[in-house]
Amino acid sequence: MKKIVVGLAVVLGFCMCTHKPSGTLDVNKALDYCAKQTQRTLTELETDSGIDYTMMPRNIMADEQHWNCRKATKEEWCAGFWPGVLWYDYEYTKDKQVLEEAENFTHSLKFLSHIPAYDHDLGFLVFCSYGNGYRLTKNPAYKQVILDTADTLATLFNPIVGTILSWPREVEPRNWPHNTIMDNMINLEMLFWAAKNGGNPYLYDIAVSHADKTMKSQFRPDYTSYHVAVYDTITGNLIKGVTHQGYADSTMWARGQAWAIYGYTVVYRETKDPKYLDFAQKVTDVYLDRLPEDKVPYWDFDDPSIPNAPRDASAGAVVASALLELSTYLPNGTGKRYKDAAIEMLTSLSSDSYQSGESKPSFLLHSVGHWPNHSEIDASIIYADYYYIEALLRLKRLQEGYGVLG
Ligand code: GLY
Repeated sequence: MKKIVVGLAVVLGFCMCTHKPSGTLDVNKALDYCAKQTQRTLTELETDSGIDYTMMPRNIMADEQHWNCRKATKEEWCAGFWPGVLWYDYEYTKDKQVLEEAENFTHSLKFLSHIPAYDHDLGFLVFCSYGNGYRLTKNPAYKQVILDTADTLATLFNPIVGTILSWPREVEPRNWPHNTIMDNMINLEMLFWAAKNGGNPYLYDIAVSHADKTMKSQFRPDYTSYHVAVYDTITGNLIKGVTHQGYADSTMWARGQAWAIYGYTVVYRETKDPKYLDFAQKVTDVYLDRLPEDKVPYWDFDDPSIPNAPRDASAGAVVASALLELSTYLPNGTGKRYKDAAIEMLTSLSSDSYQSGESKPSFLLHSVGHWPNHSEIDASIIYADYYYIEALLRLKRLQEGYGVLG
């Protein structure tokens, strides 16, 4: 399989502009663009019988022009991103029609708050949708959904290991008795939020334990991350670090590292423990040091076909958003370095090389979903759009002198 994929990369030649980002980023122009694309997507989702609010835009392949939607089920980990995009777009445009659609799509995820946990993705699913919805509307019903879902996520916590079990479904087939993936760092935000908004204070302890054990076990000495940590359920010890979506067990999968950068920035925000601030910088620096000139990473930093490997705009957007926050916790010099890097990333992502423009209704092109499975290669993917608009709003707030978070 690997040979076929490498062959494809050579034939397709994922040649991107590799120049240093140039020009000034006009944040309002980029947000206006997102608003226009959001309207295009809403129009595309209209059918004769209206919009099916359970069908969430997921991806547009390189050779396609329209969204492929997926049903909002417990297995569809991306179902919260489209409602999240709508909340962010509403935050920018204040358009009442967008608010209504954000509410409608968000409602389709309510079932997650009253079924057993399928896997760790509950934070992605419910905090991007209901979390943003509550932040903007203070609707008490939204708060209850988040609190209930946080309790559900906590059922996956294993106190012997000290982390959340990410994928119960992989325990038997892969013989991964307790597995924790780097992506799981993002789901801690919902636990922290619940603990300080009327939920069980134990949720805070779970999040901190997860962050500590992951910091200890899921990084190599150079601060690059393993996608998956496999733990022994009797001793709680790490058995091995492996990959699921990266090029190889030993490589730096771009989005995995992006989740680590974003995740430890959030853990510092919520705990104010300087060890996480230091760690967030370490996992960031190894990422920044190895970026190509345009600051958008290849999908895996160690893919031997670089420079003919595809980029991953989604990792670029996640990191840009995280670094804008991280920059605010650091003294001027260091903070400015991260903020400048984020602006360079957003400048590239906002160029014709990465924006979909007229060609399709997504915001961005050039993300990679799952290379080893040969799926979503060089595609538009909804989570790239979500973190892109989040990062733009964060930058806008900083430029206007507000706090980075809404
Ligand atoms: N959470 C899965 C991914 O990043 O692709």
